[in-house]
Amino acid sequence: MPASRSASPYADLGRPPLRESALRRAFELTPGLWRDIRVVEETGSTNADVLAAATAGAPEGLVLVAERQTAGRGRLDRSWVAPARSGLTFSVLLRPAGVPASNRGWLPLLAGVAVADVLRRVAEVDAYLKWPNDVIIGDRKVAGLLAEAVPGRASDLASAHSTGDAVVVGIGVNVSMRPSELPSPTATSLAIEGAATTDRDPVLRAILREFSRRYVAWRDSGGGAGAGGIRAAYAERCLTLGQKVSVALPGGRRLEGEAIAVDLLGRLVIRTDDGDRSIGAGDVIHVRSSGS
Ligand code: BTN
Repeated sequence: MPASRSASPYADLGRPPLRESALRRAFELTPGLWRDIRVVEETGSTNADVLAAATAGAPEGLVLVAERQTAGRGRLDRSWVAPARSGLTFSVLLRPAGVPASNRGWLPLLAGVAVADVLRRVAEVDAYLKWPNDVIIGDRKVAGLLAEAVPGRASDLASAHSTGDAVVVGIGVNVSMRPSELPSPTATSLAIEGAATTDRDPVLRAILREFSRRYVAWRDSGGGAGAGGIRAAYAERCLTLGQKVSVALPGGRRLEGEAIAVDLLGRLVIRTDDGDRSIGAGDVIHVRSSGS
């Protein structure tokens, strides 16, 4: 019998619930960035909730994990859909004090590097990045990230307790999803890829620790492209570079050419017949030449 929404969270033994108390304890023992970790059974979107908390003045370091989202948001106005406890869906609140707004585009890329590295190390899958921050195995997406910003209020900037601008980074990882549950033919999950573990708790802990390590190193060195070695680390893991690509731009236009670099702001530089173009957002398709 399929588990209904009101069924016990333990009904599907392959998908045990996350334990908020254990997660909180683990991060209290080694105090750092993540100072408030919450796990909820269901919400619309963890990004929406953390954005609301940020607007209300919540400090940096809030982590909200949902066992199920009813209105999960994806990039470019898409949705993020996953059965309850089949993956990780969570958002974190950052207030990168001292990092100019123009450099904050590195945050989702940095988060993507952290997720890809953890999936390699803990789940032992061959994870790479597709620009900007789809985590892929082969050419299928196993995780996606969505960063949304809340501008600081003018009154905050004048205050001694300024909360600064906030950035919410939302992360979705497909963990135990079965083929019939995938939201699209270009998606995959750790289970489908034969990962060494599909236990969400250690994967979540490792992502939070790796994200925090990279974020603090990046922020504390000024938050630029070179800060914390992020540009080089990103380029090493990004399969888009060097490929022929076709990019659907937000306004509906399409750009084709070779992806040659990620610039100082984290934008993708594409060599087209009309010259080099830098794009800050878009949906990239890796185009394979015939016979390759
Ligand atoms: C994408 O690849 O399109 C981005 C997907 C981001 C999904 C995550 S799941 C947790 C967080 N809450 C949301 O509503 N979206 C992000």
